[in-house]
Amino acid sequence: MRLWCLALVVAIGALGCEAPPSSAPYERATEIAEFMEWLLEPAADVIWDSAGQIDTEAGVQDLAPTTEEGWNQVRNQAALISELGNLLMMPHFAQGRPDWTEISRGLVRAGARVQRAAEARDAEVLFEEGGLLYQVCVSCHQIYWRDAPVR
Ligand code: HEC
Repeated sequence: MRLWCLALVVAIGALGCEAPPSSAPYERATEIAEFMEWLLEPAADVIWDSAGQIDTEAGVQDLAPTTEEGWNQVRNQAALISELGNLLMMPHFAQGRPDWTEISRGLVRAGARVQRAAEARDAEVLFEEGGLLYQVCVSCHQIYWRDAPVR
C-alpha cells in the first residue's frame, strides 16, 4: 500500500505537479494602479473631505459631517479601507515583501481608528486619524511608487 502511494506521488511529480498552484479560491481582479485609483483613493477621499476645515469666501467652513448619514458614510468608507488593507496583503499584491505587508496592516489599523472616530462622532479625532491615514499611504508610496508626484 505504502509503495503504491509512493508510486502515485512519483507519477504526479513526473506530470509536473511537484509544486501545485495555490488552491486559493480568490482571483486577482485589479492591477495595483487600478486598485489605488478605483478603490482605495475614493474611499480615502470621503474621509479627507469630511475632516478639518477649509477657508471659503463665506468664512471658515467645517468639513465634519452634520448628519447621521454623513457620519455613517465616513464609518463605512473607513471599514472599507481596513478591508482593502487586508486585500493588499494577498500574495499577488504583497509578493513576499514583509514591509509591504506591515504597511498594509498599518492601513487596516488606520481605517479602524477612523471608523471609531466616526462612530464616536468626534470631528477632532477624525481629523487627526485622517492625517495618520495619509501617512500610511505616503510610507508605502515612498518605497514602492517610484514615479509618485511630489505633493
Ligand atoms: C502597501 C502599499 C501601498 C499603500 C498602503 C498605498 N498605496 Fe497607493 N500605490 C502603491 C503603489 C505600488 C502604487 C504605484 C502603482 C503603479 O503605478 O503601478 C500606488 C499608486 C497610487 C495612486 C496612483 C494610481 C495610478 O493611477 O497610477 C494613487 C491615487 C494611490 N496610490 C492612492 C493611495 C491612497 C489614497 C492610499 C492610502 C489611503 C494608498 N495609495 C496607499 C502602493 C500603496
